[in-house]
Amino acid sequence: MSSAPTAPPQRLLLGSGPSPVPREVLDALALPTIGHMDPAFAAIMEEVATGLRATFATVNRATLPISGTGSAGMDALVSNFVEPGDRVVCGVHGLFGERMADQLARAGADVVRVEADWGRAIEVERLIEAARDGLDAMVVVHGETSTGVAQPLDGLADACREHDALLMIDCVTSLSGHPLALDDAGVDAAFSGTQKCLNVPPGLAPFTAGERALAKLRARRSVVRSWYFDLGLVLSYWNGDGGRAYHHTAPINLVYALREALRLVHDEGLEARWARHAQAHDTLVGDLRERGFERLAPEGEQLASLLCVRVPDGLDEAAARKRLLLEHDIEVSGGLGPLAGQVWRIGLMGAGARGDARGRLLSALDAVLA
Ligand SMILES: Cc1ncc(COP(=O)(O)O)c(C=O)c1O
Repeated sequence: MSSAPTAPPQRLLLGSGPSPVPREVLDALALPTIGHMDPAFAAIMEEVATGLRATFATVNRATLPISGTGSAGMDALVSNFVEPGDRVVCGVHGLFGERMADQLARAGADVVRVEADWGRAIEVERLIEAARDGLDAMVVVHGETSTGVAQPLDGLADACREHDALLMIDCVTSLSGHPLALDDAGVDAAFSGTQKCLNVPPGLAPFTAGERALAKLRARRSVVRSWYFDLGLVLSYWNGDGGRAYHHTAPINLVYALREALRLVHDEGLEARWARHAQAHDTLVGDLRERGFERLAPEGEQLASLLCVRVPDGLDEAAARKRLLLEHDIEVSGGLGPLAGQVWRIGLMGAGARGDARGRLLSALDAVLA
């Protein structure tokens, strides 16, 4: 290796994540590292848990950042709340629903897939119908990053509660960027990721679990297979009443950064933040339509924080994205799976959902399209 210091380029991150990291959050990463059992760190952990509760709109005491990216949150959810033989209804309308179904099958669940075309939400009636024959849990992806679709949750909690089953969601791309109030929606457990609308570098998975989920955890027939993600053990550190027990060494500086990001969410206000994302999304839809790009999601099914658009016929989308990145330092993402080569996925996440980001994107795009 060379002896020059690490020097990544400055990019404007308007893809599917990571998202732009504000200066305050970057500065927090560079604060002095202290010990994970230091009482001063415990005070920061408390603030992070409080900020996450506000952002999830929950009163769940078991609210914490799992160490690891969003996928670690998915692993923690499935490892703790799903047992071999459980009947789990899983919504699949994109890549992340597929991943969830895969995780559930690996955990030995009897997976009942309820599918919709990529680019559409799943009709809640079909999920409710699938619950009629009995279930232990239902899992849906609230913000499907592969398609830019938001999944409605109406009626799902009631359908689950009729069978004493858990409702669980992936809100990696929606948390703080698209309206979501977990307790109002009756969600029992959820996970997210820090590198989307919270604008923290990847590495933590905000996670929350309510009393019904914790009761299921206590009543498990089998031990939680994962030691690292065993919530009972992890919570003895995060929620240790009368003393925190060491489980694993928390990623201290990432936790500082998350605290800083949650402070920014708090200062802006959650509802104002949702409204800002919706506004940025609507404006960009109009801008892009004028340039021949059409949104994939129909009106009413769009995810505010991720705009997925069909690229105009005849545009070499991969070459255009490459020019945006290399000539203009702007990252947008291409399509995944069946949408590869057909769509762009533009992240409007936190600091990326602002007018200055929109202005830079449009002038670069116009230069590339010309
Ligand atoms: C909806 C959704 N779920 C899960 C994940 C996995 O998160 P990570 O890549 O941080 O592990 C992502 C990442 O993009 C996502 O968008």
